[in-house]
Amino acid sequence: MVDIGLIVFGITGLLALTSLLPALAQRLKLPYSVLLALAGAALGLLVAARDAMPEGFMATDFLIALSSFHISSEAFLVIFLPTLLFETALAIDVRRMLNDVAPILLMAVVAVVVCMVVVGVTLASLTSYGLIACLMLGAMIATTDPAAVVGIFREIGAPQRLTMLVEGESLLNDAAAIALFGMLAGMMLGGQEAAWGGVAADFLVKFLGGAAIGGAMGLAVCYLFPLLKGFTTAEITLTVALAYLSFFVGEHYFHVSGVVACVAAGLVVGSLGRTRMSPRTHEQMEGAWGQLGFWANSLIFLLAAMLVPEIMQRTSWAEAGIILSVYIAALVARVIVVGGLLPLLTAIGIAEHVNNRMKVVVVWGGLRGAISLALALAVVEHPDASDSLRDFIATSVTGYVLMTLFINGTTLRLLIHWLKLDRLSVLDRGLRDRALSLAIEEIDQEVRAIGRREGLASAAIDMITTRYAMQLSHFRRLRAGRSDLMLDELLSVGLAMLSAQEEARYFKNFKDGIMPRRIAATLLNDSGRLREAARFRGRTGYAAAARQTLRHDWRMNLGIWLNHRLGIEWLLADSLAERFETLLNRRLVIGELLGFCRDRLTALLGEETAIEIRGLILERTRAIDEALTALRLQYPDFARELQSRYLGRIARQMETDRYEEWKERAIVGGEVAEALVHDRDQRWADLDKQGRIDVALSATELVERVPLFAKLEADKRASIARLLKPRMTLPGVPIVRRGQRGDAMYFIASGAAVVLIPGKPVELGSGEFFGELALLTGQPRNADVVSLGYCRLLALNSRDFLQLLAGDAELKRAIEAVAADRMQHYRGDARSEQNADRKVGR
Ligand code: CMP
Repeated sequence: MVDIGLIVFGITGLLALTSLLPALAQRLKLPYSVLLALAGAALGLLVAARDAMPEGFMATDFLIALSSFHISSEAFLVIFLPTLLFETALAIDVRRMLNDVAPILLMAVVAVVVCMVVVGVTLASLTSYGLIACLMLGAMIATTDPAAVVGIFREIGAPQRLTMLVEGESLLNDAAAIALFGMLAGMMLGGQEAAWGGVAADFLVKFLGGAAIGGAMGLAVCYLFPLLKGFTTAEITLTVALAYLSFFVGEHYFHVSGVVACVAAGLVVGSLGRTRMSPRTHEQMEGAWGQLGFWANSLIFLLAAMLVPEIMQRTSWAEAGIILSVYIAALVARVIVVGGLLPLLTAIGIAEHVNNRMKVVVVWGGLRGAISLALALAVVEHPDASDSLRDFIATSVTGYVLMTLFINGTTLRLLIHWLKLDRLSVLDRGLRDRALSLAIEEIDQEVRAIGRREGLASAAIDMITTRYAMQLSHFRRLRAGRSDLMLDELLSVGLAMLSAQEEARYFKNFKDGIMPRRIAATLLNDSGRLREAARFRGRTGYAAAARQTLRHDWRMNLGIWLNHRLGIEWLLADSLAERFETLLNRRLVIGELLGFCRDRLTALLGEETAIEIRGLILERTRAIDEALTALRLQYPDFARELQSRYLGRIARQMETDRYEEWKERAIVGGEVAEALVHDRDQRWADLDKQGRIDVALSATELVERVPLFAKLEADKRASIARLLKPRMTLPGVPIVRRGQRGDAMYFIASGAAVVLIPGKPVELGSGEFFGELALLTGQPRNADVVSLGYCRLLALNSRDFLQLLAGDAELKRAIEAVAADRMQHYRGDARSEQNADRKVGR
């Protein structure tokens, strides 16, 4: 029985040691993982030599504590793995990952299989352990460890796409490699039959099943967040529970890959959590998970690396040869994937081009880490593993991981430097210079002002300001000269900055409680999409994405469909209200962006770029205003309600700020502050309720709005109302299409529609009708009719039409008169068009 006190002493001692290492790694310019491995190995040596140490000392006790750990692989995998995976998944920008999903999946899944096969076949031909054991080893070492590489990439400011590629790869390949390893280990040690077709199918089921279970659990948790009422500690706890539960539930109850489930859950919370959890929590959660991930990664490395000296001591020259073969085979496997398959994907158009220098770094940066070590431990401890197999796995995997850390890890930085990937591009350099000059100019003035205000000696002020002077004059010269940057590039950068600014403002409004959660989720998502579009497709991409954001979404279209076909109203009412509120919030923020463009972008990117960007902002404003006007005209009451709610939320936020300030300055005590907040909440309780638009269209009511019917007696009107079906239409959507067979005619109860006849289109307003010609003549429709705003129509199908006309001569005459006029008009137009055609000889 191990003394629990001793274990706590050992673990906390390790944590204390760990806390010193990041700073040391930075100083030595070594990747953190490399230093951890070194420290772990050194500890392992000390533990082995503990008998020679004097008794009774704290250090000796610490080593005894470490030696008494029995670290099972189970503990490695179950305790640390979910944390490591979930933390990486949380931090990933899912949208950006989706941009490069093909190469990432290729690197993740195919690269693991290629590595497994190349390493497995090589070893099987060199050793006598059999193909399955060798393939298993290949799978174990196929997992790349992102910590080292991504750390260096971030530090040197490597291209973001490269970082994304490597990070995404290492996240998903853990899942693939562990799933494959599990199956091979089952065959090897559990006596299962080897059936390759079965393995592939099984792998697929486990992978996709894991993604589905984890994704669903992640989604469920996102919907639980709002129920936790903003208790940050509770929300973070829920994410920790999710990491472990998704792993466990996937593995044990659904028999799918727990690793994939955990990753999927992390990705979902990472992408949706920002608007689902309380705004304050999100930042704190990132901190909390960063901490947990740091502990897990450090401990797993130290504990595994402590076993290294013992393993290496037993290593023979023959085994060293095997380690070298593994190293070479794994490198070859990576070259095959990165050099061969990646270009293939680019050629068939599903991946963007990755340049050769980046490819070299991706190949060389495939460091291996904690997960390979933990998997090796799982085999070493397995009761059914033979001694020779244990030695083979332990030595080769540990040796290989160390080689990647010490050879690739220590030289990666040099390689990146040598390939000049750490240099800023011309564009980035230009931007940095401008940003710097802007900052310096502002600071220079402020510093002088402070110096004068505080009455400091002018010599003292000069000593500081001369430091800037040289740089300032350099930048002034630079700015006076012609710009070395292309307008297209500047626009792309400027629009990406603008979108980031837009996103930040939405998030701030959400944080301040001015914008409701659902609206924030849509707007944040849209601005993220704008940013990516600007970055990859420049001005045209941005403009297209901006138009896209104003389209009616699938919910609205489904709402319309349900309303037409089944008379269901709630979805339409809901999505209309949501669209209204989204447009309003979007409009308010975009209005503010003009200021940002004027104040910041002009100085940073130059006049010409800023003017272009301003034009794009104005274009967006116009489009939004148009969409808003259409809604406002139809639902003026709701528009007022939205505006007042918006103002109310601002008032509530101001109140909150004031109370907080009073509390901070001790003007009011804790209890009074609490009472004030309580009072505020009560007063504003109705602010966060979801508004609804009344879309109920009663035929009886609408019939009264059509002058043709309004004159009729009440019971006649009621019988007509029974024949008419109310319909609502969205702006810009065709109601009737030219050439189609006519099955109904329409009366416009409110709104407007345009008839696209040759020549000049004709606009029809409230009370008018269309679609009667096809019913009267039996001919196809003679024009497109498009809804101009949110129209309320009354549809009359052809059978009821004939019945109605048969029973009401006056109505018949009125409709036929209009129709005859239109026919004439139409013929006249068609004839003059034919004449015109003849004249130009078409
Ligand atoms: P229909 O042909 O069934 O479908 C298209 C409709 O457009 C048509 O019926 C008329 O209701 C309407 N339409 C056609 N020409 C004119 C016109 N000159 N002025 C107004 N409406 C028209």
